[in-house]
Amino acid sequence: MLSQNSSFRTWHRTVLLVGVLVLLVSLVVVIVLAVILTPGKEDISSTLPQWKGRGTTKNLQEVVLGRCYNYITTVNPELGNKDCLKIWETLQDAFMYKNPCNITTDDYQPLMDLARHPVPCNKSLFWSKTNELVHRYTKADDNFLTLEDTLLGYIADQVSWCGDPASPGINYESCPKWTECESNPSTVYWKMASKMFAEEACGVVQVMLNGSIDAGAFRSSSIFGSVEIFNLDPNKVSTIQIWLMHNIGGPKRDSCTGYSITRLKSILEERNFTVSCEDNYRPVWLFQCASEPGHEDCRLCLCGVQ
Ligand SMILES: *[C@@H]1O[C@H](CO)[C@@H](O)[C@H](O)[C@H]1NC(C)=O
Ligand SMILES: *[C@@H]1O[C@H](CO)[C@@H](O)[C@H](O)[C@H]1NC(C)=O
Ligand SMILES: *[C@@H]1O[C@H](CO)[C@@H](O)[C@H](O)[C@H]1NC(C)=O
Ligand SMILES: *[C@@H]1O[C@H](CO)[C@@H](O)[C@H](O)[C@H]1NC(C)=O
Repeated sequence: MLSQNSSFRTWHRTVLLVGVLVLLVSLVVVIVLAVILTPGKEDISSTLPQWKGRGTTKNLQEVVLGRCYNYITTVNPELGNKDCLKIWETLQDAFMYKNPCNITTDDYQPLMDLARHPVPCNKSLFWSKTNELVHRYTKADDNFLTLEDTLLGYIADQVSWCGDPASPGINYESCPKWTECESNPSTVYWKMASKMFAEEACGVVQVMLNGSIDAGAFRSSSIFGSVEIFNLDPNKVSTIQIWLMHNIGGPKRDSCTGYSITRLKSILEERNFTVSCEDNYRPVWLFQCASEPGHEDCRLCLCGVQ
């Protein structure tokens, strides 16, 4: 009775083993067939990104809403009545489901109207090629505001976005660079926001340029050189102060008397602005030295670089 039972178990085990083996073999056959029969070659090209630029920032809605609420509650609480939800919705309407190479100023006008706000006189600080320094500086000195310290600049700083005519209407994989097409969502946005920022400026305005780059501190192709200077209002803005900053330790490629600054001055003077220029504007230079106190440019009296 005992041995009969154990041989029955052995038989049962064998059947089970054979079953598992058959199952495994058929699984392998199915996988091999699937690999052979799937048209893989064509898929490769369709998974290549469509554009050369960074795709839409993940969680764009949360990022924009979070920044907007942060701006109106802690960064600039005097601003008051801005509807962040509405701002997000109009931003979304401007680019979602649209061809990302065919964005117009009309697409963004409602957003610009909703989000624009005045900038106090004497506070506007323009910049070109000094992105890192200028923003560290305005964080430390609230006498000055850059575009990125206004609501429109704040919500979009370092963020990428673009649409796609197909569902879900947003391209998270890639977005066109301005070299691929100029009328892309970012370029059109920043040009409009820069234009508005320039239009709002009044009193004494300042611009921080980079005297350590090869191409010259003033470039007429920059947003500052192509958009902002032409939208300053001579009836509101009296003086433009140029702060020409060099890297600590150089190189010193451009100066207030150099070719590119001379050109900038003449463009501005033709538009009836008073212009001044300072090499290594002292408060900013001291600020730069604060992060590299041991450097010899910072040790040699306080005027070593002038
Ligand atoms: C671009 O947009 C304009 C106006 O919305 C439209 O007339 C034109 O056909 C669009 N072009 C392309 C290539 O989508
Ligand atoms: C702006 O600066 C000018 C010149 O320094 C000064 O006369 C004017 O009072 C300032 N305006 C404000 C609002 O601070
Ligand atoms: C000038 O531009 C260079 C290259 O973009 C950058 O590394 C440097 O920090 C800039 N200097 C200043 C003073 O902003
Ligand atoms: C600059 O001022 C002069 C004299 O007041 C005036 O004739 C000229 O039209 C002004 N130019 C501009 C661009 O406003």
